[in-house]
Amino acid sequence: MDVCFSPEMVTAHSLKHKTVVVADILRASSSITSGIQGGVPAIRPVEHIHRRHYWQDRGYLLGGERGGVMVDGFDLGNAPLDYLKAGAKKQKIIMTTTNGTRAIQVSKHAGQLLVGSFLNLEAIAEYLLKDRPPLLVVCSGWKGTPSLEDSLFAGALLDRLGTEYDAPLSDGARLAITNYRYHKEHLSQTVRNSSHGQRLLGMQREEDIEYCLQQSIYPVVPILKGEEIVALGS
Ligand code: MLT
Repeated sequence: MDVCFSPEMVTAHSLKHKTVVVADILRASSSITSGIQGGVPAIRPVEHIHRRHYWQDRGYLLGGERGGVMVDGFDLGNAPLDYLKAGAKKQKIIMTTTNGTRAIQVSKHAGQLLVGSFLNLEAIAEYLLKDRPPLLVVCSGWKGTPSLEDSLFAGALLDRLGTEYDAPLSDGARLAITNYRYHKEHLSQTVRNSSHGQRLLGMQREEDIEYCLQQSIYPVVPILKGEEIVALGS
């Protein structure tokens, strides 16, 4: 079991036979989890949306942000509750975010790619424990640097999998678990103090932080199928 603390670290890994869990706790992977849980049929993660009309004509909603702020003319920004509510429209979403969708793109050649967040941690853990595949958690970080909240999720997931997984832990995995155990009793305060936590608080997105830190409230396992993320088993 291993952890990449930013997408840049992924190049050091061969992904073909691995299961990758991509995490961008604040907020892309929490938004994707929420959207798929809410009934969005598929989310297409891309680094950039070049032809907006092309996708709109095909029935997609446009979602995403730059620097945390919704892109002009898009239907959705990156607030997870908006993705949950968008499920009612039953439209696919094409999504671009600063770091999260990029982490998915660089990991897409993995044996299988799952999207993880605190919201569906237990569902991801239970799915992984069925076959215990070689596992890599890819944290989206922020513009090439690690993010505390993503590494806390990596640690929480690996801590949950624990000895049941029966696989060696890399130094990165040990680091993530140790960090999670140190902070787990005061997760909310730790994440609020993190750099993206501070950035979101500055944008009055406190609600998003608290929402994203709820643990295992959704049973959904979002999985990449072709170019789109769908609910496992759909
Ligand atoms: C990202 O992809 O960098 C994030 O999800 C940024 C955000 O909070 O919107």
